Amino acid sequence: MPDLAYVNGEIMPIEKAVVPIEDRGYQFGDGVYEFVASYEGRLFMLEEHLDRLERSMRELAFDPISRSEIKAAICDLLKRSGYPRAGIYIQISRGVAPRNHAITPDMAAQIIMTIRPVKEIQEDIRKNGATAITVQDTRWVRCDIKTVQLLANSLAKQKALDSGCDDAIFVSDQGIVREGTSSNLFIISGGKLITHPLTDYILPGITRTAVLNICKAADLEVEESFFGTETLYGADEVFLTGTVTEVLPVVRIDGRSIGDGKVGPITRRIYDLLRKQALAGGSA
Ligand code: PDD
Repeated sequence: MPDLAYVNGEIMPIEKAVVPIEDRGYQFGDGVYEFVASYEGRLFMLEEHLDRLERSMRELAFDPISRSEIKAAICDLLKRSGYPRAGIYIQISRGVAPRNHAITPDMAAQIIMTIRPVKEIQEDIRKNGATAITVQDTRWVRCDIKTVQLLANSLAKQKALDSGCDDAIFVSDQGIVREGTSSNLFIISGGKLITHPLTDYILPGITRTAVLNICKAADLEVEESFFGTETLYGADEVFLTGTVTEVLPVVRIDGRSIGDGKVGPITRRIYDLLRKQALAGGSA
């Protein structure tokens, strides 16, 4: 079965799918997206992803589109692909119009999706932990909206790879640690988990929510508060969360070892609990 694309209601092989050159997503980054993954043929936390997609569209004043239509298309794509471990990318752009900064009324939203097998995190990184650099957060100030404007994220990721690390962590001008290039970030200090609060400066990650719920159920103490790079470097454990990232330990940041430089027990435990929940087809 080839990797498939969905374009405004039509399903086709990915290489056959094209978008009009005057799509506002293409010219202005005027589009929102989601990325949802399946485990053994079941989509993990699909309703939460659809909630966030609707929120992103509302925040940008897109005309509403039918949730049930999008959901049906996602499920149909998954079924047709036959992939047990699929990654589905869903993008909705405001529409197609002659290039103009002002928004033409009554544009038809463009809905595209792709489905491929999930590109898993490399086994050795998953097992031994990832390395990261910190970078200045140069993104716009509505990082809570999942828009397709990912240039800062993409450049930061590449900078990390070019410097021999696996990922980059955004830090604000004031030195506040935000999140990864495609993940949220948690630290563990003295047995307590700390993560950035939900503000305009980070994405409200679905995996972040799943981890918060797991911690609650496991009686692990969590605090949502701001912290700086010194606290990050001094943490006992650090991990990233995301749909593909799942729970990924980070053992070295800016050349400094985190804790003893090995994957910590709490991170390992939360990863196991998240996997268990995902494989059971559970929701948060
Ligand atoms: N990215 N923060 C950012 C900036 C992200 O791009 C993502 C996800 C997350 C984690 O969100 P979630 O747990 O809902 O996947 C946090 C997706 C996977 C992507 O860009 O493909």
